[in-house]
Amino acid sequence: MTTPDFDPITYDYSSLLAGQSEPESTRQTGLVPADLKWLAPRLEDVRRQMLEELDLFQKGGPVPAELQPLDAGFFDLPEQFLGPRRRDLEAIQQTADRLAAECDRVVVLGIGGSYMGARALMEACCHPYFNELPRKRRGGRPRMYFEGNNVDNDALQGLLDLVEGTDDWAIVVISKSGGTLETAVAFRLLINALRRSCGNDREKLRRRIVPVTGRSGRLRELAQALGCPAVFPIPDGVGGRYSVLTAVGLLPAALLGLDVEHLLEGAAAMNERFRTAPPLCSSERKGAGSERSEVPVPFLSSNPPLDYAGVGRLMEVRRGAVTRVLSTWGKGLEALGLWYDQLLSESLGKNGQGATPITVVNTRDLHSRGQQHQEGRRDKLITNVFVEKPNRDLLAVPQSELDQDRLNELAGKTVPEILHAAFTGTNRAYADDYRRTATISLPRLDEASLGQLLQMLMLATVAEGRLIGVNPFGQPGVEAYKRNMNAILRPKK
Ligand code: PA5
Repeated sequence: MTTPDFDPITYDYSSLLAGQSEPESTRQTGLVPADLKWLAPRLEDVRRQMLEELDLFQKGGPVPAELQPLDAGFFDLPEQFLGPRRRDLEAIQQTADRLAAECDRVVVLGIGGSYMGARALMEACCHPYFNELPRKRRGGRPRMYFEGNNVDNDALQGLLDLVEGTDDWAIVVISKSGGTLETAVAFRLLINALRRSCGNDREKLRRRIVPVTGRSGRLRELAQALGCPAVFPIPDGVGGRYSVLTAVGLLPAALLGLDVEHLLEGAAAMNERFRTAPPLCSSERKGAGSERSEVPVPFLSSNPPLDYAGVGRLMEVRRGAVTRVLSTWGKGLEALGLWYDQLLSESLGKNGQGATPITVVNTRDLHSRGQQHQEGRRDKLITNVFVEKPNRDLLAVPQSELDQDRLNELAGKTVPEILHAAFTGTNRAYADDYRRTATISLPRLDEASLGQLLQMLMLATVAEGRLIGVNPFGQPGVEAYKRNMNAILRPKK
């Protein structure tokens, strides 16, 4: 594999490690060598198992009952799209470019794994006011709206207000099963509006609807009946919440003008790290000097997915951290956090297990959740997601003749410097009370970083599932509400 032309993201959990000279009472709030020693071989087994599962999946051999469902197909999607299936990636890009040329608005219909990844990509990698910008400043790409992710009369009406009377919009409808009610209801309502917009021109209508769906199901049948020229598959063996790097996420991303190759390259680079990182240390590392002897041994390696899974698990079972706070530092990361909320909840929230995820956006939520994180129950593992370098020119606090706000003494400080002070100050305040934090650092908020982060969190979630004996694929618990809703809506005559 060639060396990627972007910087790696890092996962640093060193602040979670208790120093050897700490008193016993505070050591119990962090991780100690014995914890890591216990964990290292188990994590190595998990890595081996995951690579074997991928192999089994690729060979198409029979899947043992205890592994079913086995949706290992997400793992090598990046390598597939950048290699043997490049044609499929090109087809996605071509359809995106065609729609972008024809349309000023695209409505993406989908729920759960069929929309959260695309939204995360849009919020992280596009201009924060993308939809408000004039077309030229959007790079000639369409505005994007997400619907079909709820059953909300007024929200749907609001969207119809936007598109009715215009003729330059399109629908991307995404559902793997093809039968999800929320998405299907919105699609039916929106098709009627699109039909009116197209003036009953059937050919135009077909070109303005792009379904992304599984091999079979109601949406695929509907796509055939409509005669849509472009229909993209969600491959078998890729679960909804693991599908962001299929057309589910790639088509919206390409529509927005994002660099999907960079996204996939980032994800492939994370796969490479997962596969090839040296085995986790299981013997004592001899340190030199007093500083070195503070480092607990054995310690984990440079394998972010495995490290993240292991640390989360240890903090949960050994330190009672049953709540996982993804503490994002920047507005563009909120939807990424929500995507992760779903990934963790649906993958591991089974058989009475699974940590509870919460996303916070700082510094905003320091003014809402911050109090609880500083002084509330000690049941949280806080993992920061911090972006090292902003994409835009730096803003600095200006001098002012009016200094009633006493900001002149900060004049010249940049907004990132202020954010960094908040970040450091917050983590120091937590650490002073032995509330230890870990940090995922992204060099920049861009496609390459997002690709790495998405893949890291997907691999880590599967690894944790294997570690605790919970199948990270499938979501049987979601069926209960659907059954009841259908029974209420369609009572047997
Ligand atoms: O992770 C999953 O599989 C789910 O969250 C699904 O993505 C969600 O229920 C939507 O399903 P579908 O794509 O079949 O409409």
